[in-house]
Amino acid sequence: NYKFEHSFELNLENGDFFVTYQISNTKERKIFRPDYLNKKNDFQKLFDLIENGFEVISADNLSRSSASSLIGIEKITGKKIKNYEIDLTDKKAAAQIFIQHKNITGIIHFAAYKAVGESVEKPLEYYQNNIGSLINLLALSIQYQVKHFIFSSSCTVYGNPDSIPVTEKTPLQKAASPYGATKQMGETIVQDTAAAHPMAAILLRYFNPVGAHPSIAIGELPIGHPQNLVPAITQTAIGKLPKMQVHGNDYDTRDGSCIRDYIHVCDIAHAHTLALQYSIKENAFNHCEVFNLGTGKGITVLEAIAAFEKVSGVRLNYEIGPRRAGDIVAIYANNDYAVKKLGWNCKYDLNDMMRTAWLWEKSLASE
Ligand code: WQD
Repeated sequence: NYKFEHSFELNLENGDFFVTYQISNTKERKIFRPDYLNKKNDFQKLFDLIENGFEVISADNLSRSSASSLIGIEKITGKKIKNYEIDLTDKKAAAQIFIQHKNITGIIHFAAYKAVGESVEKPLEYYQNNIGSLINLLALSIQYQVKHFIFSSSCTVYGNPDSIPVTEKTPLQKAASPYGATKQMGETIVQDTAAAHPMAAILLRYFNPVGAHPSIAIGELPIGHPQNLVPAITQTAIGKLPKMQVHGNDYDTRDGSCIRDYIHVCDIAHAHTLALQYSIKENAFNHCEVFNLGTGKGITVLEAIAAFEKVSGVRLNYEIGPRRAGDIVAIYANNDYAVKKLGWNCKYDLNDMMRTAWLWEKSLASE
């Protein structure tokens, strides 16, 4: 029963885009959104938030990405993106954003390295980066009274689940990789912080985000050898890689390869906008909610490759290799809770994911 008024202003000089909310007696509000690795997801979310009327500020040290993704967003939205090129594990640097932007409405926090295999080789870098940046942002959120905190979590928190599809209530098993461990710890840190402070927190457990924005103006930019399946497929198909490896086909699944819930990045992005709008509407402080962001469909690695070949018309050059340390055998989501509470629905199917990923790879090759 809030009086909810809002107005949008676009500062034509510097491109700042304000959403002014008047909810009961609260004043002007904005949104702050730090940006980190795995740019494809992050820039899609930035785009979706802007399209839904938020002013979005980005913090991205571009350590594993390029400013070209910001330019892609500007191309699609026509709005200039304010980006702070800082490392969020540097609390002093991160604090500057809060000092310069009073009344930040919410934070959507993606600061995480996210390659399961890499986390097995470099665990300390993963703990330092994923946990260090989270603690800094939570501490600054409390200091500057940011009330809404959305944490990019992951289905890897379930470990190898006892039963699939997993719901938000499925018990978490031991993380199968240091990456998954940073997400389990991250969730606990967010939950405990929200319980102790007037903060409304949401944990979004992504399954496997893939694909590119239909405009093909933004997409995945993996640095170095791609760790994730879909960029490995598209880079092999375009000839950047001579061949790719399927990490094991001797698992207890229908074709021996691992099962995942691949979801289009735009569906993930829109879920963030809905989650923030939901959090602002509910204003449930000292509270933390969890949502699964998956399609509810489990696809094997070999089925994903077959879907790509069908959509692209390209015969993929791959071989069956050994299992990859840290891999979960099979996981896919029960997404009923997000559908019901957030009013979220997946718009894109596996063919859309493969088609946009392939168009994006071809656009990179033509640059
Ligand atoms: C998928 C499957 C590989 C590359 C991802 C994100 C993580 C989280 C969960 C968001 C596995 C196989 C891969 C290759 C292969 N999402 N594969 N050959 O490990 O499920 O984790 O989703 O937070 O951040 O990284 O995704 O794409 O690495 O692997 O056979 O060259 O594809 O073994 O079975 P994963 P992935």
